[in-house]
Formats: sequence, structure tokens, C-alpha cells
Amino acid sequence: MTLLQLLDQRVCAALTAAGASQAQALIQPASRPEFGDYQANGVMAAAKQLKMAPRALAQQVVDTLDLAGIASKIDIAGPGFINITLDNAFLAQQLQQAAQDSRLAVAPVAAPQKVMVEYSSPNLAKEMHVGHLRSSIIGDALARVLAFLGHDVIRANHVGDWGTQFGMLTAYLLEQQSASSDLALDDLETFYRQAKIRFDEDEQFAELAREYVVKLQSGDAAVLALWQQFVEISLSHCQAVYDRLGVSLDRAAVRGESAYNDDLPHIIDDLRAKNLLVESDGAQVVFLEEFKNPEGEPQAVIIQKKDGGYLYATTDLAAVRYRHTVLNLDRVLYVVDARQSLHFQQIFTIAQKAGYSANMVLEHIGFGTMMGEDNRPFKTRTGGTVKLIDLLNEAEQRAFELVSSKNPELDEAQRRRIAQVVGIGAVKYADLSKHRNSDYVFNWNTMLSFEGNTAPYLQYAYARVASLFRKADDFDTACELVLQEPAEHQLAVQLLQFADVLKDIARDGTPHFLCQYLYQLATLFSRFYEACPVLKSEGQLRQSRLKLARLTADTLKTGLGLLGIDTLESM
Ligand code: ARG
Repeated sequence: MTLLQLLDQRVCAALTAAGASQAQALIQPASRPEFGDYQANGVMAAAKQLKMAPRALAQQVVDTLDLAGIASKIDIAGPGFINITLDNAFLAQQLQQAAQDSRLAVAPVAAPQKVMVEYSSPNLAKEMHVGHLRSSIIGDALARVLAFLGHDVIRANHVGDWGTQFGMLTAYLLEQQSASSDLALDDLETFYRQAKIRFDEDEQFAELAREYVVKLQSGDAAVLALWQQFVEISLSHCQAVYDRLGVSLDRAAVRGESAYNDDLPHIIDDLRAKNLLVESDGAQVVFLEEFKNPEGEPQAVIIQKKDGGYLYATTDLAAVRYRHTVLNLDRVLYVVDARQSLHFQQIFTIAQKAGYSANMVLEHIGFGTMMGEDNRPFKTRTGGTVKLIDLLNEAEQRAFELVSSKNPELDEAQRRRIAQVVGIGAVKYADLSKHRNSDYVFNWNTMLSFEGNTAPYLQYAYARVASLFRKADDFDTACELVLQEPAEHQLAVQLLQFADVLKDIARDGTPHFLCQYLYQLATLFSRFYEACPVLKSEGQLRQSRLKLARLTADTLKTGLGLLGIDTLESM
């Protein structure tokens, strides 16, 4: 049980004893130290139900509230809040358990689920660009947190490897291969652009490209081989980006849209057999009462076009069915741009009606847009899309300049290593620390700052704590903790909130909770470090404070690791 669950259980029991059996305790970490460590906010609603004065009910709750050995103080405040201050001996004992446990006392979930996190999922016709950054890093953080909590996590990269563009690309690939042996595929962007120029300017080539689309769809072996070759190259470009970014996706996670091709006709047949499909203007559509078009009529979702072609939605329905019937998943998180929200709502609704998902929970984890300084979607100076790999190169270069000016005495290899960890960490953290639903402005200076809620600040905080242990070789891991000062108390409470934060992230798909938590932890550590001498104290006090430092360092490292961000022992 986490700390919050424990308090919740006790307050609920007291509410029940006071007659409010259905009431919620509504426990939260206190927003200010004057309010203790935790605040129970549920009394007011319960009092309303029972038609009692809230403070009178609060008094009854406090009279029976059993927090012996857990809380040192319980107060009633304002209209009926209950403020709980935890007992230092209890905190010390809880931290003792965390210190002995590589999981920092975060218990694995009692009922692990089979959870798929579908993320990144670029279209392979082009190179990955900044538009794929958010999905890749938010998805990766969620996958890491869910796995850490003990769920069986399946990472899925639902790449766009099918569609009419591949006719043009394979035709161009063949043309290039016959023209010269060394192929200009190291830059997919240029390759795509050149193919498009050929397509627009040469009618014969365009004809060939269209022919190739048909050949691909009918399974022509030669064209399929070209397609396969193109897909492999494009995937290797993606892998290079994942490796640079520290995103834990690999080839095993890839199951592209094309994997569902054979199933698409069956989806049509099945939806028809279930009376969900209607012909409308020659196309096969599903009408959804749940969604109204601007005229107030049920919205039509096209499943098969007039010409027999399938759509993005058709593939997604096949994927849902596969994930339920073959993979037997409990939950699927789709980490995809918020602009696709209607698409997912419709897919989830149709899948439910067709019985493709049963009790598998489907969630669209949407996110806003990354903006440039001009408050418009992030672009190059000339208005082009920014390749992700170029952005990462720039991040490392900027971090390198920064590190070189801060630590000119380090040799170049060391400075490069720090720049890599700081540069990539800064880009990821700047994204993860915002609520995923909001748009955010991408700004190099803020993200690379060593002050404020940034990766460099936290990485530096970690390195600073780690450096303590190079000066304290007498640290005895078996020592007892003694908490005396308010700064020690507050740091201890914060350390013990780690499990609750992870639980909330797993529920809501919100990595920024962890960023807020780590930032607060680093801040409380600084306060502790200023108020409580560590290396200058002696005996048990010194050991106990070192232990608090050790736990802080371990929690920072583990937390950043769950966000996919590295740390260094010195920087
Ligand atoms: N390839 C799509 C895109 O780039 C994203 C795929 C999202 N996942 C899905 N199951 N539809 O927009």
C-alpha cells in the first residue's frame, strides 16, 4: 500500500464510523507546510450528505481516526479540512524500507495488466521529423513507467508503410538502381522530393508509378521486393533516431499498417454481417449516432472507398481486432497527436459495436503541437519541416558549447559525453514537463538552462548529490535514520510520495507529474542541504543525512530513467 492509500483507508474508516459510509476521504499532499503533510478534503461533502455542520463532523472523524504511530499531529482547519502531519519515526522507518529495496519501495501492482503502448508510428515514405518527437518520447516514458510498476508492456510502432506514395517511391527506386549502383537513400527527404518531381513532370513515370500501386496491391513479387527494400532503409533511419534519443523501440516493436492488409476484406464482410455497414454514394460507411455532423445528422465513417480502396480507419479497426483476439491485451494506449482525436473516438466506438475490443480498454493519449518562437508549428527558418536527426544534432552541439564554457578544463571526450546526456535530456524533458495536451513553445535557452524545471538542473542536482559520496567513504548503508529538522522532514515526505506519483501517471498517461515531482524533490534537497550540514556533521547524524542524500540521488536517477533521461556521476 502506498502512503496515500494508507491515509485514505484510515480516514475512510473514520468517516464510516461517523456515519458517512459512502464518503470519499479525498486525501492530497498538502499545498503548504502550514497545512501539515497531507490534507483530507472529503469531510465537507460528507457533512452535506449527512446534513451536519462540517466542523462537527471533522471533529468526530478526528476523534476516531486511527493514525497511531503514523501521524504526530492531526488538525482541523478552515471549513472542515483535516491536516495530517506525519510522525518522524514513522517516516524514518518507511524510508528505511525504501533504502533497502532496489525498487525504492515501489511495490509492483497487485494485478498486472497486459498493456500495449503504441507510439512513434511515423510514416515511412519520409524521414522522421519534429512532428514525431512528442509521440516517441511521451510514449516511451509511459511504457517505462508501466513496466516499472510491473505491468506486461508491449511496445508497438504502428508505422505507415502502405499507401499510394509507395508506388511512386518503388518506381523511383527501380529507376535509380538501374541508373547507378550507389543509391541516394541516405537522405529520404531528398529521395522523396526527387521522386515527386519525376512524378509531376514526367507523365510516363507517373503512369509507371500508378501501375506500381496496383502491382503492390495485387502482391507482385518484384515490386514487393522493392517496397521491402525501401521500408527496410526507412526503418533503419528511424532506428538511428531512436538510438540517439534513447527511445526503447526496436524492430520487434514494428508492426506496420501493411501487416493488416489481408484482413481488410474480412473487416468489411464482418461489419456487413453485423449490420453496421451501409452503402452511401457507392462507398461503404458506418453511421454513428454518437457523432453528429454539422447538419445534426449521424456522422458517416468511410470504411471502404467507392473504388474499393481501404482507409486509415479500416486498418485501425483490423489492428484493434488483432490486439484483442490475438494479443489478448487488457489495455491499449495510442500515443498520437490530439488532432486525430475524432478518428480514435470513432474507431473505438465502431470497434466496441463490432465486438472487436470487448473489455480491452482503448485510450487515446493525445498531445498538443510543438511550436516555434513565433507561436506557429515548429519549422525551419525557410518554413520547411525540421528533420528530427538535425534537431538532435543541434541539441548536442548547443549543449557542447555550454559545457565547454562552463567546464573548459575537461577534455573534449568528457565534454562530448556530458553534452550528449544534457542535450538529449533537455529536449526530452522540455517536452515531458508540459501537460501533454497543451501546445508548447520550443526554446533552446530555457530547456538548456541550469535553473528552473529543466533536465540540466535535475541532472546537475543528481551529480552534486552523487559527488557527496566521493567525499564520504565512511558512509554506512546500514545506519539508522533520524529526522529532526523541518527540512529533513519535508524531504522525507517527498521521497515517500514516489510510488503515488507513478500510480497517477499509469492511470492518466501524464509524465509531467513525474517532472513536477522530481523538480520538487531537487528543490527540497537543496533546502535540506543548506539547512542541515552533511559532511560537516558527525556520528549518527552524518550517517543519517548521507542516507537521505543517497535516497534522493537514487530517486532522481530512477525517476529520470523512467522518463528516458540519463544521468552522470559528475558533470
Ligand atoms: N502514421 C500515423 C501518422 O503519422 C500515426 C499512426 C497512429 N496510430 C494509429 N493506430 N492510427 O499520423
